[in-house]
This record gives sequence, C-alpha cells and structure tokens, in this order.
Amino acid sequence: MAKKDIDWGSLGFGYVKTDKRFVSNYKDGKWDDGVITEDADIVMNECACVLQYAQTCFEGLKAYTTEDGRTVCFRPDLNAARMYDTAQRLEMPPFDKDRFVEAVKQVVKANEDYVPPYGSGATLYLRPYMFGINPVIGVKPADEYQFRIFATPVGPYFKGGIKPLTLCVSDFDRAAPHGTGHIKAGLNYAMSLHPIQEAHRAGFAENMYLDAATRTKVEETGGANFLFVTKDNKVVTPKSNSILPSITRRSLMYVAKEYLGLEAEEREVYFDEVKDFAECGLCGTAAVISPVGKIVDHGKEICFPSGMDEMGPITKKLYDTLTGIQMGRLDAPEGWIVEI
Ligand code: PLP
Ligand code: COI
Repeated sequence: MAKKDIDWGSLGFGYVKTDKRFVSNYKDGKWDDGVITEDADIVMNECACVLQYAQTCFEGLKAYTTEDGRTVCFRPDLNAARMYDTAQRLEMPPFDKDRFVEAVKQVVKANEDYVPPYGSGATLYLRPYMFGINPVIGVKPADEYQFRIFATPVGPYFKGGIKPLTLCVSDFDRAAPHGTGHIKAGLNYAMSLHPIQEAHRAGFAENMYLDAATRTKVEETGGANFLFVTKDNKVVTPKSNSILPSITRRSLMYVAKEYLGLEAEEREVYFDEVKDFAECGLCGTAAVISPVGKIVDHGKEICFPSGMDEMGPITKKLYDTLTGIQMGRLDAPEGWIVEI
C-alpha cells in the first residue's frame, strides 16, 4: 500500500475525488446488496424527487491513521443511527445500521491510500448520503432511492486551522421549533447558504443562530454545536430539540466528565449569559473543536477572555483528549474506535 502523493498538510476542507465509493439502490421496497464502484457520477431523471423537492439527507464522519499505524473510524454506529432517524423523518427507507457501518469500512478500505498519515493534520472525511431518485411531480416521497458513501481527504474546516473565530448573531433562523433542525436533512443546509454568505461578506466565519420562537436562547451554527466553559471551569452545551445531536459534542461531554473530571451540563443557554462565559468553541466532525474568540451581536462585541490568539485552556484539554482518543494516543471508551 502506497499513500497517494498529496500535500496532506495544505489540504483544506474541500472535495478531492478518490478512487472508490459505495452505492446501493432501493427499488421495489428493498435495498440491494450495494457495490463499490469507481463511477463518481450519478445520472437521474430531470424530475427526480431530490431535484424537485430536496428529498435528501447526509452524514459526516472521519477515518484516521493512529499513532501505531492502524486505520480507524470514530463511532460510525452513531452516524448510522442518526441517519436512520433522519431517513424516517424524511419518509425515506432507512438503511440498515449494521450495513451502514460495513459500507463505511468498505469505503475506507477501498481508499486506504487516501487516509492521511498520522501527524499530517489531515483526515479522511466520509460522506454517506441518500436521496429520492425516481420522477415525482406531485408532492410525495420517492419510491426509489440511492444510498452512497464517498471519501475525501480533508484538512481543517475553518481557514486558519485552530485560530479563534469571530461569529455573528444571525437575523435568520436555522430551524423551526417543530421542524427538521434535529436531523441531517439537506434542506437545513440549503436554507443556511444565504445566511452564511451574508456572514462571510460581513467578515464573520459563521453564524450563531438563536431559537426561532423567542430569539433568546443559543442554538448552534450552520455546521457545529456550541460548547461553553464557565469561569469556574464547568462545560456547558445548549439543549434544544431543534439542533443536530452532534456526535462530537456527545463525546466531548463524556470526555469532560470521565477523562478530565469536569462538571458538564447540557441545558438551555440564554444569549444573555454568553458574555459571562470564559471560553467558547464549535464542535463537530468537520470542525473538531474550533475555538471562538468573539461573537458580534449587531455591533456589540462579546470577547471571550481566552482571546483571539489561542484556544482557551479547557477547550485545548478537550481538543487534545478527543483527538488523542481518535488518533490512538489515549485509550478509548468501549466501542468508540472501529478498526478497518
Ligand atoms: N450541527 C450541525 C448543523 C452539523 O451539520 C453538524 C455536523 O455534522 C454538527 C452539528 C456536528 O455533528 P457531529 O459532531 O455529529 O459531526
Ligand atoms: C460535519 O461536521 O460532518 C458536517 O456535516 C458539517 C458540515 C460540513 C455541514
């Protein structure tokens, strides 16, 4: 096995076409066995449900090279479970959870040359996704679907790596109280494109969305959950039915309690309290933990004491511990690391 000749250290979070991907089709009420294919293109009818009514969902997880040279994935069973829930909410036929994990392993194995080496700062991002593919013109779910997983080597999600970010409080809402904010539906990201471009045009890295009903509580960003640290070192994360249940966030809350001996609390977080926190970070598969230095609310700045130069001390401990587990430097809790 020879690794591809890629400058791993200069990769950003972009698409690099790799050699193999997994495809399974759903027809006549069942998923077929699926295959690994070299064909990265999809041909579909002009009236495919995904094109007309956005019936599509996705997942994101990573494969890593560990310190001792193994290739591993982080908690793929939780992505399988979340995609199962997402599919049900979108009236799509859920893909079997064990088969999902098997397909992830197949894709990583088939693209092993693209799994970035240990210490390169890059990882192999896996993108499982599913969409309605047959023609549908009246508003109803498709009868036929495709489930795919491709792989692409990636570097940091935010430009500048792990330099603290500046966010703005968005005037747009990300998710309605009884809507689809808790699932990984493509439509959640389509509606975020305008807000995120507006934020970028104004010089911000991302949006902080507030709850749509009262606009008093912190929800999440377009692609990551929030973590805050109080001045007495308690880790706090917003609780809401309309945010995505981040696997990274759930893992970090466990790490905070069980590895670092910190108090960790999932609760409603009012925007008014944000100014009193000592540290703030964004967490997600792509974001890992990206520190936030400043949040701007219509010209009013909230500057965290951790500053704009480096991660706050607790955020750094969380980052080091989580990545230590993912890269095999630290023992993982049972079931977190799946070897390929
Ligand atoms: N929130 C949103 C809206 C996301 O798109 C993601 C990315 O998957 C996350 C949070 C982080 O979730 P996870 O840690 O499972 O990747
Ligand atoms: C992820 O972290 O895997 C995401 O899906 C976030 C973003 C790329 C949409």
